[in-house]
Amino acid sequence: MQRLQISVPAQPFKYEILVGRGILSAAGREIRRRLGRQVQRLALISNKKVSNLYGPLVVESLEASGFQISSWLMGDGERYKSLKTVETALQFLSEHGIERTDGLVGLGGGVTGDLAGFAAAMYLRGISFVQIPTTLVSQVDASIGGKVGVNLSSGKNRAGAFHQPDVVIADLETLKTLPARELTAGWCECIKQGAIGSRKLFKQTVDYLSQTEGERMAVSSQLEHLIAAHGAFKASIVRADVRESPERTDPRSRRILNFGHTVGHALEELTGYRRFRHGEAVGWGMLLAGELSKNLGLLDQSELELLRAGIRLCGPLPAAEDIDVDAILSAVTRDKKRARGQVQWVLLERIGRPRMVNGKEIDVNSLRTSIRDILQKRNDE
Ligand SMILES: NC(=O)c1ccc[n+]([C@@H]2O[C@H](COP(=O)([O-])OP(=O)(O)OC[C@H]3O[C@@H](n4cnc5c(N)ncnc54)[C@H](O)[C@@H]3O)[C@@H](O)[C@H]2O)c1
Ligand SMILES: [Zn+2]
Repeated sequence: MQRLQISVPAQPFKYEILVGRGILSAAGREIRRRLGRQVQRLALISNKKVSNLYGPLVVESLEASGFQISSWLMGDGERYKSLKTVETALQFLSEHGIERTDGLVGLGGGVTGDLAGFAAAMYLRGISFVQIPTTLVSQVDASIGGKVGVNLSSGKNRAGAFHQPDVVIADLETLKTLPARELTAGWCECIKQGAIGSRKLFKQTVDYLSQTEGERMAVSSQLEHLIAAHGAFKASIVRADVRESPERTDPRSRRILNFGHTVGHALEELTGYRRFRHGEAVGWGMLLAGELSKNLGLLDQSELELLRAGIRLCGPLPAAEDIDVDAILSAVTRDKKRARGQVQWVLLERIGRPRMVNGKEIDVNSLRTSIRDILQKRNDE
């Protein structure tokens, strides 16, 4: 047997996240700047709804910068984030003669971005990729960090790759057409990032939400700063742990981004992905993770109150009271973010200070009590 030693230098990457108002019209220029003169063609993946709203503006801008555009529209909704859709997308790229030196642009929310990014990662073993996120969830979270992929029938995001975008262009104007529930879901993810990131980011988010009720999407420089701060936070976590190392359990590992997601995913699964927007389920998941943190003696009551008030500001969450506690418990233990058979909980020591706790250190009765208390408390509010 021969043993060859091949060393591959770690691939550094660097890209800009552009956050601004009315910047879709500058997309072509920015992408050209980033991809260079040799790129001639771009495939654009979006869905009908988003394309009707913003497609013409984006295509016009891209064409003005000399790109030839081939557009393909995928179905709208989580169920289209599938291998079947990716296959159709890859076929489209192939039939339209997209080459290794061309690029792909994803225009839409996290579903479109995850799917388009996965297609870009696979097509000819990887072509340039640009994210133009148009939902709050995708602007502050999904478009940053290079996780791309699709769902399998066995669970969400089970097949995927790491494929970093070359540039992310987040135009705040697009948020104005988002339905209220999509905003609630996005704000929940912002509260999550604040809760695990820093007191400053948490406070900035809560202040914004409490000061702007009713006109949150009136695009202002305050909103611009807030979205940029969230993008910067996500980027800082990704930079320090690009591939989400399963060994890491420190407060800056990429896995802390799963705060609220253990129970969130369970609720989504138990309701067939129909009742909750993902971020709304994370809202419930954070309430539970906060309660559990308090019951385990990690988190003070006053900090828990801050978290609860922050989540309340995001908007109403769909009912969860009717969901069986034991069903939640067993769904939790099936969660894919396990390591060596154990659920890894992201809990809180205080706002801005997460702590990873192995499921085996948590007594199932305190877990059951915490879940019951949370569902009960919301009922009483
Ligand atoms: N890759 C990551 O790191 C990461 C992180 C978080 C979430 N995600 C994924 O993101 C997905 C959720 O993303 P999402 O919340 O953006 O959902 P989504 O992409 O389904 O978008 C929500 C809805 O809003 C519509 N929409 C999009 N932009 C709009 C606009 N500007 N105006 C009006 N309607 C608009 C969409 O067509 C859709 O109906 C999930 O699949 C999740 O797994 C990925
Ligand atoms: Zn999430």
